[in-house]
Amino acid sequence: MLPAGTFQNKVVFITGGGTGLGRAMATTMSQLGAQCVIASRKLDVLQQTAEEISTQTGNKVHALQCDVKDPQAVSACADQMEALTGLPDVIINNAAGNFICPSERLSANGWRSICDIVLNGTAYITLELGKRLIHSHRGAAFLAITTIYAESGSGFVAPSAAAKAGVEALYKSLAAEWGRHGLRFNIIQPGPIRTKGAFSRLDPTGTFEQKMIGRIPAGRLGQPAEIANLAAYLSSDYSNWMSGAVVRFDGGEYVSMAGEFNELRQVTSEQWDKLESLIRSTKGS
Ligand code: HXC
Ligand code: NAP
Repeated sequence: MLPAGTFQNKVVFITGGGTGLGRAMATTMSQLGAQCVIASRKLDVLQQTAEEISTQTGNKVHALQCDVKDPQAVSACADQMEALTGLPDVIINNAAGNFICPSERLSANGWRSICDIVLNGTAYITLELGKRLIHSHRGAAFLAITTIYAESGSGFVAPSAAAKAGVEALYKSLAAEWGRHGLRFNIIQPGPIRTKGAFSRLDPTGTFEQKMIGRIPAGRLGQPAEIANLAAYLSSDYSNWMSGAVVRFDGGEYVSMAGEFNELRQVTSEQWDKLESLIRSTKGS
């Protein structure tokens, strides 16, 4: 989508970049010339991904172990990145934890584990790198991957919904506060995109997927490469004037679920003939 070399001489840091959507974003940005740094807990997974992307694109991908729940690990990761590549031009907070669970079954630790990864992890990464960038008088583009239900809330994933809503509030706040330092903050809210990490925890039997597809007007799930294109645009200099934006990316699912009369899609043409004549017959009454 973007011209070759869009990310030439740029460093892109992606949490959770070893798998799923993070991996897709790393691949696309590496293809566009970026030097990527991917970070998460499982170093072996990261190293394999880094190797595969580097071989495919010819651009170096670095793998750094980092548990975003731990502010000291985040600081150590930032030190390592500075030594390897210098400070990043793009920071993508993509790491997350989630599982479906009735809220009455949720332990305090279950709640904490999701909020620590999603909200605290995003905050630790953002504060650590934001402070370093401000200190060095360096601009950067921050991007957070949330979800469509950050806005509506959702049963059975309450900690994820609450934490993602917190991430959105954090990013909007910093877009206002840190814009003067050349830092910008945007958000993508994806709808369902098949990844092993997400679908094994949100649809473990595979029975929910058809329901999801049924309510997406586009008639299909999203694809990792599609969100990677959007993430690349929002992280590139082509979107330099965008900050504080929330981009919903869901094939129309959110509005489709929200609209009072959207179920009328099921009404056939013959049924519409009857409905229309009934409505017209009430004219003047
Ligand atoms: C109830 C559960 C549970 C479950 C774990 N817990 N799984 N409770 N139902 N299915 C509880 C545990 O019992 C424990 O509480 C607490 O949560 C922490 O569990 P741990 O296994 O110790 O945590 P940890 O090893 O840190 O693993 C975190 C994790 C795991 C979130 C539980 O799934 C993980 O590593 N996930 C990372 C990847 C991921 O989730 N990707 C999906 C993102 S998809 P107790 O009280 O017993 O100690 C996404 C998409 C959203 O966000 C939008 C889709 C449309
Ligand atoms: P995924 O493959 O499970 O990605 C989650 C990543 O987070 C993993 O690479 C994991 O790596 C990392 N991670 C988890 N805990 C971490 C921690 N404590 N520290 C550092 N990294 C950690 O799932 P995905 O579908 O690609 O999800 C990516 C993002 O998209 C998430 O923010 C998710 O909420 C969002 N999203 C996904 C969908 C979808 O349908 N797929 C929809 C909406 C939003 P390690 O295990 O190595 O730590």
